[in-house]
Parts: sequence; structure tokens; C-alpha cells
Amino acid sequence: MSYYYPKLSIITCSFFMFFASFVSALPKMFDIITYGAVPNGDITQAFTNAWNDACASNVSSKVMVPRGTFKMNGLRLKGHCKAPIEVKVDGTILGPKIPSDLKKERTWLSFSYINSFTLSGSGIFDGQGVSHPWKEDDCTKQNEACKPYNLAFNFINNSIIRGVTTKDSRGFHVNVLSCNNVTIDAFTVSAPAESINTDGLHISRSTNVSVINSKIETGDDCVSLGDGDRQITVRNVYCGPGHGISVGSLGGDPEELPLDGFTVRNCTLNGTSNGVRVKTWADKPGTMLISNLLFEDITMINVQTPIIIDQEYCPSKKCSNKNPSKIQISNVTFKNIRGTSEFEYAVVLNCSKEKPCKNVQFNNVDIKLSNGSLPLATCINVDPIEIGKTAPSCKP
Ligand SMILES: *[C@@H]1O[C@H](CO)[C@@H](O)[C@H](O)[C@H]1NC(C)=O
Ligand SMILES: *[C@@H]1O[C@H](CO)[C@@H](O)[C@H](O)[C@H]1NC(C)=O
Ligand SMILES: *[C@@H]1O[C@H](CO)[C@@H](O)[C@H](O)[C@H]1NC(C)=O
Ligand SMILES: *[C@@H]1O[C@H](CO)[C@@H](O)[C@H](O)[C@H]1NC(C)=O
Ligand SMILES: *[C@@H]1O[C@H](CO)[C@@H](O)[C@H](O)[C@H]1NC(C)=O
Ligand SMILES: *[C@@H]1O[C@H](CO)[C@@H](O)[C@H](O)[C@H]1NC(C)=O
Ligand SMILES: *[C@@H]1O[C@H](CO)[C@@H](O)[C@H](O)[C@H]1NC(C)=O
Ligand SMILES: *[C@@H]1O[C@H](CO)[C@@H](O)[C@H](O)[C@H]1NC(C)=O
Ligand SMILES: *[C@@H]1O[C@H](CO)[C@@H](O)[C@H](O)[C@H]1NC(C)=O
Repeated sequence: MSYYYPKLSIITCSFFMFFASFVSALPKMFDIITYGAVPNGDITQAFTNAWNDACASNVSSKVMVPRGTFKMNGLRLKGHCKAPIEVKVDGTILGPKIPSDLKKERTWLSFSYINSFTLSGSGIFDGQGVSHPWKEDDCTKQNEACKPYNLAFNFINNSIIRGVTTKDSRGFHVNVLSCNNVTIDAFTVSAPAESINTDGLHISRSTNVSVINSKIETGDDCVSLGDGDRQITVRNVYCGPGHGISVGSLGGDPEELPLDGFTVRNCTLNGTSNGVRVKTWADKPGTMLISNLLFEDITMINVQTPIIIDQEYCPSKKCSNKNPSKIQISNVTFKNIRGTSEFEYAVVLNCSKEKPCKNVQFNNVDIKLSNGSLPLATCINVDPIEIGKTAPSCKP
């Protein structure tokens, strides 16, 4: 009967459409094993060749680093690629034992100039900092390669980094530079508290980058923002040990671009030296603006200083606080922040005498000392708006 024909043809037609879209969505595979990689061997060349072929593919491609342990030297993988490209790493990749083997590369593995890139898998990028302890790295003799970053993403758009782990980097674990619309999800950073200068993720000159559902244990900042960032989000992230979540240090360079829009939400900081922090140099030429920062739903567990704006940042004797910072900080909200502080001053706001902080708000902040006593706040060159419970408070 004619009644059934349209129905059948719709089913048939949608079946073929489904099948066709399924077939065309299957990426072309480039397994490094077929490029000559062997377990425990050096995959630098095989990975390079697989990447080059995948990147030249005119259909979506997937480079595979299967389970197993491999070695790899410094590698720069670049686009532009002809179609979306994924690198799926399930194995453990070991960096060179001696960092000078990177031949002055700043980064062990970098990905640059790629649109629609995915880095996925359950693999581990092990920089082997432990085999050559951080404190023994000799960074004094213009040895640029002494503190290589584990990973870098430069000029990458519309991309996803998901699942992988970076371990025991000698320098920063991940540098994100000039990226647009990148999500870093279910990512793990793993390094001991004593690994110096090993920021988890450093993000600069980037727009719409989100770090979500991730765990960052390291010896320096959990996430740090440089200049020129817009719409950066850190959500559902656990930090500790480490130095907490930081904006800056900024102001050192007059060429720095403004930083506008940073949201940190639903995060836990455990045993870190700082919780959420903004730091700018005093007595330096930078005049960029820092605006629209929101720190919301954050749990602090035994954090030395949970909330800090420090416009006299000076970690060494090489800086001076003679003249105030020229950086204007405005629109900073601390909302629903609870937990415990190690130090007596749980809130330290040292704003610039020349550019007092504008529109700083506290809304439902409840911090106690780790021993249960009430902590203190110091608030200089700033007059925060306090809504709801605010403990400790800037008000006398
Ligand atoms: C894709 O590349 C293959 C060979 O590499 C070529 O035969 C084919 O015509 C190309 N398709 C398109 C749509 O460019
Ligand atoms: C990324 O986006 C920027 C800004 O839209 C554009 O200039 C750049 O060419 C893009 N890069 C890639 C690799 O597609
Ligand atoms: C942002 O990137 C995601 C993941 O690659 C993509 O699905 C989405 O379409 C991109 N958004 C825009 C506005 O291009
Ligand atoms: C910003 O990032 C989100 C999450 O990846 C994405 O859905 C959205 O399309 C991005 N917006 C732009 C303008 O790229
Ligand atoms: C907040 O983070 C916790 C712990 O990571 C998670 O279980 C929860 O789903 C998150 N809540 C929201 C609203 O994202
Ligand atoms: C905080 O860190 C301590 C020390 O590493 C650990 O024992 C404790 O379980 C952590 N707390 C949470 C909530 O993760
Ligand atoms: C601060 O927030 C107010 C109100 O949302 C907005 O009008 C102003 O432009 C913001 N200031 C900056 C520097 O973005
Ligand atoms: C808790 O620690 C603070 C700062 O170290 C100290 O001043 C205070 O006396 C302590 N309170 C108790 C009850 O031990
Ligand atoms: C904040 O400023 C006060 C007064 O200038 C100073 O005593 C204190 O050490 C500063 N705190 C920090 C963390 O810089």
C-alpha cells in the first residue's frame, strides 16, 4: 500500500545517510608502529614521519602512539594541516635523560599552527626531571635547554587536549601561547612539590581557553596567566601541591597586552602556598590592564595565603619596590570561597599606590585558620565591597 512506501524510504534513506556519515567520519590512521617504532626504542623519526603524512592527508587523520614505553628526543610538530588531525597517545613517552640532548630547544614536544587539533589518550609524557634532579640543573651558563618545557601548544585554534598526563617536566609542564578556543579536559600534571619552576599550565596571548576536570600536582603555579589573555576558564580543577592559581607576574615589559576575563570556578586548592593570586612587579615599566577576574566556589585546604593581590611582587633581591606598580587592576570578585589558611593573614591585598585596585568584591568568603582560629586580612590601596559573610574582612 502506498501508505508504507514513504515510511520505508525514509528509513532506508536515513540508514544510508547514517552509514555514509559514519564512513566519512572515520579518520585515516597513522600508527607509529607501521612507521618503524619499536617498544623501548626512540620514536622521534617515526612520530615525525607519521605526523607529516597525517598532516598532509586531505581527510581527517589520527596518529597513534600505542601502549608501551618509548623514548623521544625534542620534536616540533607543525601545521597547517589539510584536515582535522588527532594524536592519540596511549603509551608512555620518555624524554631525554640529559636535557642538553634537546639541543637548545625550549620545549621537548611542541605542536604549532594547527586548526582542529586533538591530543587524546591515556598516555604519559615523562620529562624525566626526577632522573636529573631539578636542583642540579645548571641554568647559569647560558644553557637554554636546561629547563625545557614538556609540552607547548602555539597558535592552535578550535582544539581539544584530553586525557593525557605530563609528568616530571624540567621546566613548565605546558605552555599555551596564542591559542583560540582550546579545551584542556581531564588532563593530569604530576610532579613533586620540590620541582622548582614547573608551572602546570602557563597560558598567554590566548582567547577562550578552558582547563576543566583536571588534576595538577607540581612544584610551582598550578595554572598561571601571562599577558594578552581573554576569556580564560579554569573549572573543576584540583591543585596541590604547588603555588596555586596565578595571574602574572605582570608589568615587567611595556609591550604587554591587557588581560581581560579570567574565571576560576569550583576548584580545590590543597596544601598550596597561595590560593588565588594576582601579582605585578613594582618599579617596572608595564602599564597593561588586568580586569574582570572571577574566583567562585573555591575550597582552600591548608593553603598558606588563600587570597592575594600583590602589586609589590618581588621573589628575589633583584627587584625593587621603590616606585609603585603602574598596572591597573579592576573588577575582581571573590565569591563563595571557604576553607582553611595556614598563615595568619588569609587575605592579603597589596594594591598599587599609583593605581589603587578598583571594584574588588568579596561575597560570602569564609576562611578559618588551620587551627580553627580566625585569620586576618590586610588591605592596602583598595576598598573592597563586602557582601554576605566576609571572614576575614578588610573592614575595621
Ligand atoms: C585526496 O588525496 C588522494 C591521494 O592522496 C587523492 O587521490 C584524492 O583525489 C584527494 N581528494 C580530494 C578531495 O582532494
Ligand atoms: C587561528 O585563528 C587566528 C585568528 O582567527 C588566525 O589568524 C590564524 O590563522 C588561525 N590559525 C590556524 C592555524 O588556523
Ligand atoms: C571551538 O572548538 C570546538 C572543538 O574543536 C569546536 O567544536 C567548536 O565548533 C569551536 N567553536 C567555534 C566558534 O569555532
Ligand atoms: C569558546 O569555547 C567554547 C568551549 O570550547 C566553545 O563551545 C565556543 O564555541 C568557543 N567560542 C568561540 C567564539 O570560539
Ligand atoms: C565541582 O567539582 C566537583 C569535584 O571535582 C565535582 O564532583 C562536581 O561535579 C563539580 N560541580 C560542578 C557544578 O561542576
Ligand atoms: C589534601 O592533601 C593531603 C596531603 O596530601 C591529603 O592527605 C588529603 O587527602 C587531601 N585532601 C583532599 C580533600 O583531597
Ligand atoms: C568593570 O565592570 C563594569 C560593570 O560590569 C563594566 O562596566 C566595566 O567596563 C568593567 N571594567 C573593565 C575595565 O572592564
Ligand atoms: C592559631 O594559629 C595562629 C597563627 O599561627 C595563632 O596566632 C593562634 O594563637 C593559634 N590559635 C590557637 C587556638 O592555637
Ligand atoms: C603588603 O604590604 C605591607 C605594607 O607595605 C607589607 O608589610 C607586607 O609585607 C606586604 N605583603 C606582601 C605579601 O607583599
